[in-house]
Amino acid sequence: MKQEWSYKGFVDEPVPGDIDVKSEIRELCRQKNAIILAHYYTEGEIQDIADYVGDSLGLARVAAGTDADIIVMCGVHFMAETNKILCPNKKILLPDLNADCSLAESCPANEFEAFVKRHPDHTVLSYVNTSAAIKTLTDVVVTSGNARQIVESFPKDAKLIFGPDYNLGRYINSITGREMLLWDGGCHVHERFSVTELKRLKESYPDAPVLAHPECKKDILDLADVIGSTAALLKFVSRSDKKAFIIVTESGILHQMKKEAPGKEFITVPSDENLSACNECNYMRLNTLNKLYNTLKFECPEVTLPADVIERAAKPIQRMLEISDRLGL
Ligand code: 13P
Ligand code: SF4
Repeated sequence: MKQEWSYKGFVDEPVPGDIDVKSEIRELCRQKNAIILAHYYTEGEIQDIADYVGDSLGLARVAAGTDADIIVMCGVHFMAETNKILCPNKKILLPDLNADCSLAESCPANEFEAFVKRHPDHTVLSYVNTSAAIKTLTDVVVTSGNARQIVESFPKDAKLIFGPDYNLGRYINSITGREMLLWDGGCHVHERFSVTELKRLKESYPDAPVLAHPECKKDILDLADVIGSTAALLKFVSRSDKKAFIIVTESGILHQMKKEAPGKEFITVPSDENLSACNECNYMRLNTLNKLYNTLKFECPEVTLPADVIERAAKPIQRMLEISDRLGL
């Protein structure tokens, strides 16, 4: 019996049992001139079917350059918004509108606006993990792949605000000698890695370098050998002659690491609360093949933004892309 079409932030239509979902997804992309972008933290089967898999900087660049009519962003909401801001005339689809980001949520626009207004002589740098509303209050957007270089492109005595990720901002301050004013936000995945477990794993695998994302807390970053964006950590793994690596970021990245460095060992770090699990971003994992299929078929859920928000939020993102291109990042 045909079920009723239902919608819960995603299209809850059962996928017919007799179809090959993967080939249907690719066929729908061909028919509709659509591309699928996926972040490294999504499930392996989503990464494998995507046209492009990358970090936030790479995803923004590909979105800005595509001639597709539809972009399906298998990631989280701020990534789809960034695509809409860069491509206002394209249809931007997100397989599940519930795919938020705890870091973006940790920075409500009204509170951030009041913070910015208290420091009118400061330039505002915002991490890309923010809502479009925060981007309208921002001078330059940064990602983990270019934050250091963009901060260093400002004079040493420049007055800067950095938000919302406190850990990334603190880390950039420490390596650049800056004293940016920091917003106190954070990511619930990266803040919960266990320092005790990381120390124990370092003892068990003394030759394995520790690779950490800069959204981790200081006591984790102090134990890391390499700190970088997901793309930077992946690059390190594929070029290194080491046999094993301790990975302190969301475990979806292991899919590409295993593909690029087959035969090597990747050790994940649990949280103190759940020693048996590796850390996953529950929001990224809302992207599934069935939702992706329905999203393409019904062209829903679509991410839209008011024209004035797009216009204002585009400026700091374009500045980021211009600076990154100029610096060869
Ligand atoms: P990257 O830009 O390094 O991929 O990071 C995005 C993110 O959400 C990290 O939690
Ligand atoms: Fe946001 Fe953290 Fe998930 Fe990255 S891992 S998308 S920062 S909640």
